[in-house]
Amino acid sequence: MERRIMGNFGGIIHGGDYNPDQWLDRPEILEEDLQLMKRANVNCVTLGIFAWSRLEPEEGRYDLEWLAGIIQRLYENGIYTILATPTGAMPQWLTGKYEEVLQVNEYGVRNFPGKRHNYCPSSPVMREKTRQIDTRLAERFGSHPGVIGWHISNEIGGNGGDGACHCEHCQNAFREWLREKYGSLDRLNAAWWTSFWSHTYTDWSQVRSASARGEDLVHGQNLDWKRFVDSRQLDFCREEIRAVRSHSTLPVTANMMEFFYTFNYFRWAKELDIISWDSYPDWHSGADELRMAARTAAAHSLMRSLKKKSFLLMESTPSVVNWRQINRLKRPGMHALSSLQAVACGSDSVQYFQWRKSRGSSEKYHGAVVDHRNGADTRVFREVARLGERLEKIAPKVVGTCNRPRIAMVFDWENWWAVQDAYAVDNDLDYLETFLDFFRPLWEMGIDVDMVDMEGALDPYSVVIAPLNYMYRKGYAERVRAFVSRGGCYITTCWSGEVDDSDLTFTGAHPLEDVLGIRTEEIDAPGGYCENSVRYHGTDHRITGLCGLIHAKGAEVLAEYQNDFYKGYPALTRNVYGDGEAYYIASINEGSFLKELYGHVLRERGLECGLQVRLAEGVTVNERSRAAEDGGQSEKIWFLQNFNREPASVELLARYENVETGEMLNGTIELPPFACVVLMEG
Ligand code: GLA
Ligand code: ZN
Repeated sequence: MERRIMGNFGGIIHGGDYNPDQWLDRPEILEEDLQLMKRANVNCVTLGIFAWSRLEPEEGRYDLEWLAGIIQRLYENGIYTILATPTGAMPQWLTGKYEEVLQVNEYGVRNFPGKRHNYCPSSPVMREKTRQIDTRLAERFGSHPGVIGWHISNEIGGNGGDGACHCEHCQNAFREWLREKYGSLDRLNAAWWTSFWSHTYTDWSQVRSASARGEDLVHGQNLDWKRFVDSRQLDFCREEIRAVRSHSTLPVTANMMEFFYTFNYFRWAKELDIISWDSYPDWHSGADELRMAARTAAAHSLMRSLKKKSFLLMESTPSVVNWRQINRLKRPGMHALSSLQAVACGSDSVQYFQWRKSRGSSEKYHGAVVDHRNGADTRVFREVARLGERLEKIAPKVVGTCNRPRIAMVFDWENWWAVQDAYAVDNDLDYLETFLDFFRPLWEMGIDVDMVDMEGALDPYSVVIAPLNYMYRKGYAERVRAFVSRGGCYITTCWSGEVDDSDLTFTGAHPLEDVLGIRTEEIDAPGGYCENSVRYHGTDHRITGLCGLIHAKGAEVLAEYQNDFYKGYPALTRNVYGDGEAYYIASINEGSFLKELYGHVLRERGLECGLQVRLAEGVTVNERSRAAEDGGQSEKIWFLQNFNREPASVELLARYENVETGEMLNGTIELPPFACVVLMEG
């Protein structure tokens, strides 16, 4: 069984971004870093992010010696390195000499040098310079025993924009991409429905990127442009991967940004050996803390689902960020809780941005393990060091395990792009927020889910929940049909099965009419005009969003609208199809409705929470397990997490052992505010 996380590293990784390149003229600082890392129980750092100008101070002149010294010294002290390629930011000599490496925005204006994450992914110069520096790094460090993996660039695409470059290189590449996809302009015109407003293309050179300065109302074009931007950046990343693999067999990752709208991470995952991501929840924001907790769990679950393997929490802040309007300190306990939440959801690491606060520039007040003053004598440092001890203690139980849910939720990037561009009944409709509303009741019930996109396999699951599947990508309806007929339970909603993957509406029946047993007709956004509700199992649940007007066509009606001209219309239906069943939720309702429905389905299928527990509000649980076939006995551990700022009592209905203290627990236990307890069978 694979118990190594990365390279030859076996524990839970604890560390983070280390930028000694900012301190090379201060050897005493570098010395202090090493001593403090040991005291903080740091066992791994990420080096080289944004270090390009130190690694290649002038075009073609490389200086890797300082880095070699640091990697070696860390290694001698038991600290491993994840080595980054430095392309997250470009050196002045590069941007100064070669204008083409700079992105052009949608208005046709080329950026000046500066900032980061903003190269043109089509620029031949950028690709060549990148290949050269990456190859050098791989040659020099690719088999160093202290280096355990590659970190490609940094938060690719994350410049606050949409990752797109509209320069002529990119325009040509877009045309090439379209030619390959469609083969002929006729097929492109048909897919983009260009006969509308007389937009028919007669020559490939007329085709341009979607932009506010020109065309951004052709839905098929917008969608293809988004797909292209995604592929272009992925293609650039693939070249970086190729460069490091030319001299190294170490695993490769790229730090992702949770539900990052611009990139279809399911596609990216195929190119990476291990998934990693940067998590910065807005704790204590005054808004609903439990919503934040559930949202963060959803993001972790997404990351785990990309490869259905444990992942790395590559960045998080040990205290505050500095880029929100108001940046609150993590309250005592929250650092450990939010870090262990990541582990609970499948992370094999807790890493920070960053190790030491910089003195200048835009992140000088961003939280770090080591502050501008006080060395190890800070609350934050102590919490980090203490967490490091806890991670060491639980590591033998954690490493080699993963979460293995039987329930999946469909989350699909292309569908997301299409929903946000639909121009339909509710233009404030937010796919992600609705998706998270469908996730939260499961989180509250201590039920973990995998996320799959419309290309993902459904068969490993017993239940598939698919909110707002507006666009049915090719082959999706057939896969759902097969899943249900073989006994699966499919739960979907209104605003599903509307368009195909060219964003052209289906005509005729709903593509899953037979499976769902319904006929769809109109859709309404009644909010502000009429309060409405759905009566289900004797309780009224408030409608909070869209209302689909549907008719049963074989399906059993389980709930009806209570008001307005569609009073009595079906609001929830269930249809038996083959060996399985399909639920159609016609309206978007408050969470209590979903809890009722999920509770019923999960009980029927024996999919309740694996820990025998009565949870309290704001307390959830995640299960990681080692399957017997992975070698040895099957084993389970649970992370019981209290996201309340108050203590909470939960009732354990069986005997469990606290993994960290060895204490046996049963019956009612009191969880302190922001506590996380790791349990195994007692
Ligand atoms: C991102 C980046 C880091 C840093 C942090 C600050 O995650 O990758 O370089 O800017 O944000 O929160
Ligand atoms: Zn470009």
